[in-house]
Amino acid sequence: MEEQIRKIKQESIEKIKTIENLKELADEKVKYLGKKGELTTILRGMGSLSKEERPIIGSLVNEVRDELEILFDSKEKKLKRKDLLKRLETENIDVTEPSKKITLGSLHPITQIIKEVEEIFLGMGYEIADGPEVEKAIYNFDKLNTPPDHPARDVQDTFYINDDIVLRSQTSPVQARVMENKKPPIKIICPGAVYRSDSVDATHSPVFHQIEGLVVDKNIAMTDLKGTLEMFAKKCLGENTKIRFRPHHFPFTEPSAEADVSCFVCGGKGCRVCKGEGWIELLGCGMVHPNVLKNCGIDPEKYSGFAFGFGVERIAMAKFGIEDMRLLFENDIRFLKQF
Ligand code: DAH
Repeated sequence: MEEQIRKIKQESIEKIKTIENLKELADEKVKYLGKKGELTTILRGMGSLSKEERPIIGSLVNEVRDELEILFDSKEKKLKRKDLLKRLETENIDVTEPSKKITLGSLHPITQIIKEVEEIFLGMGYEIADGPEVEKAIYNFDKLNTPPDHPARDVQDTFYINDDIVLRSQTSPVQARVMENKKPPIKIICPGAVYRSDSVDATHSPVFHQIEGLVVDKNIAMTDLKGTLEMFAKKCLGENTKIRFRPHHFPFTEPSAEADVSCFVCGGKGCRVCKGEGWIELLGCGMVHPNVLKNCGIDPEKYSGFAFGFGVERIAMAKFGIEDMRLLFENDIRFLKQF
């Protein structure tokens, strides 16, 4: 048996010398030292040896196994190092080569305008409010003094989820939500998507964006509204922008007005953007109707307020010179890249 063990040892030493790859080395190691390997088999068969032989053979097997293990390990290290050197030689990286260009996206023009307007109003001490796009009809209409027979409530104009719930047709319901939850002084703007049953063309889309503004406090007057809008127009559209009010009607404001800005392209002389008018229609506004204050739990004898609301698409189109609103929603990267 001693003879056999020495033979295994010798054979294995020779083998290790000739092996040149790691896989083969691992296979050989299993063959000699593994659970079913040759040395283990000998250890298993020791039951048939005499009492005197057993410890001698046992210790010889262990000795050989330790030796072989050392040899296998050192060969493994050698082969690994050789592999590494070879890879370092062949897989060289040219760190001076230009890297792949990563193209970063940019904010959508609508988002850009919203952010810009937010900055302007934050600078004037406003807070940004938010409200649901799927809204109760009560907030979209009733609390805003818009009676059940008002034409805006028609299914022709507004998307109904059921009799009581609509896709908000304006950001104005956020006014009511804020007033119910907060005591004056209130100074908020609310940007967001709104929905109307309009067919798509160059100036209409069933979904578009508005920014609502609301201020409620003691002694708020029309002059505050005008001054605020003037300041906003100058910051957003240019220092020389002028503003004018035309009488109008909204159910939730009294008096109500539409505000125009002098054309920021031609400065008021008349051009393609203002269609020769010199003025561009900007927004709806007015003094918050006493009924609206009352509906939202604010005493109209003590407090007054102003509100305004405008379409973001219209501003984006005028500012960026976009002639067709559909471009803003088609997500064509060639179009969006320009902003
Ligand atoms: N909600 C109106 C609309 O969609 C715009 C508007 C007009 C908002 C007057 C206001 C306002 O807050 O006071 O046409």
